[in-house]
Amino acid sequence: MRKKIVAGNWKMNLGFEEAEQLIEDLIDLLENINMDTEVVICPPFPYLEMASDYAQESTFKVGAQNLSAFGSGAYTGEVSGAMLQSMDITYCIIGHSERRKYFEENDKMLTAKVNQAMANQIIPIFCVGESLPEREAEKHFQVVRRQVRHGLFHLDTHEFEKVIIAYEPVWAIGTGINATPQQAAEMHAYIRTLIAERYGQEVADNTTILYGGSCTSKNAPELFAQPGVDGGLVGGASLKAAEFIEICKSIK
Ligand code: PGA
Repeated sequence: MRKKIVAGNWKMNLGFEEAEQLIEDLIDLLENINMDTEVVICPPFPYLEMASDYAQESTFKVGAQNLSAFGSGAYTGEVSGAMLQSMDITYCIIGHSERRKYFEENDKMLTAKVNQAMANQIIPIFCVGESLPEREAEKHFQVVRRQVRHGLFHLDTHEFEKVIIAYEPVWAIGTGINATPQQAAEMHAYIRTLIAERYGQEVADNTTILYGGSCTSKNAPELFAQPGVDGGLVGGASLKAAEFIEICKSIK
């Protein structure tokens, strides 16, 4: 079902006490507002249980930033989809460009991760997006098409309907240079066309597609007002409670 979502990707930031403080600040702010937007936080693995406990008493949901491509067993250092499910984790970011780049996560591995999420009732927030050289070479549609097809189009309709897609141009992540609202709208429309070709128009219309990359409370209102932009995946700006909540409130 198409929803309005703002998800905070904390990446590898904050100590335990800082993380707890941020969650408490978010809860205070959330109590005073009435929004249709679903607010999601994605803290590092060691804080998920704490976040999940707090979430029981609040309106936000919790996501992980990654999960293993394997089911269980002798995979030192990995965290499985089943473990996330056992902690009531709702979402998992899969295919973030930092994982693709620094951890060499390729299409095949990401397909396996999507399958693990599906098998454990975790909703994937599947990230796609082109690099700067790819955009400059006007290959951005081609790149995103490959990522969406390889990562997701093996799913049957029923499974695909659960997926959330985040369009995050790599050149916009952590750079302070967000995509223009027009660039975001154009790519979101393109992704929806791909989904319509594979799963039909109704499924495409019901898919939630987020924008990510240097989202702030300043640029979010215009970005989120674009047709086809259903919210955001927010990195740096999700580490400050008031700023993050302002971004969440930008969805009208
Ligand atoms: P940013 O990160 O908001 O800091 O650019 C977004 C993301 O990587 O999800």
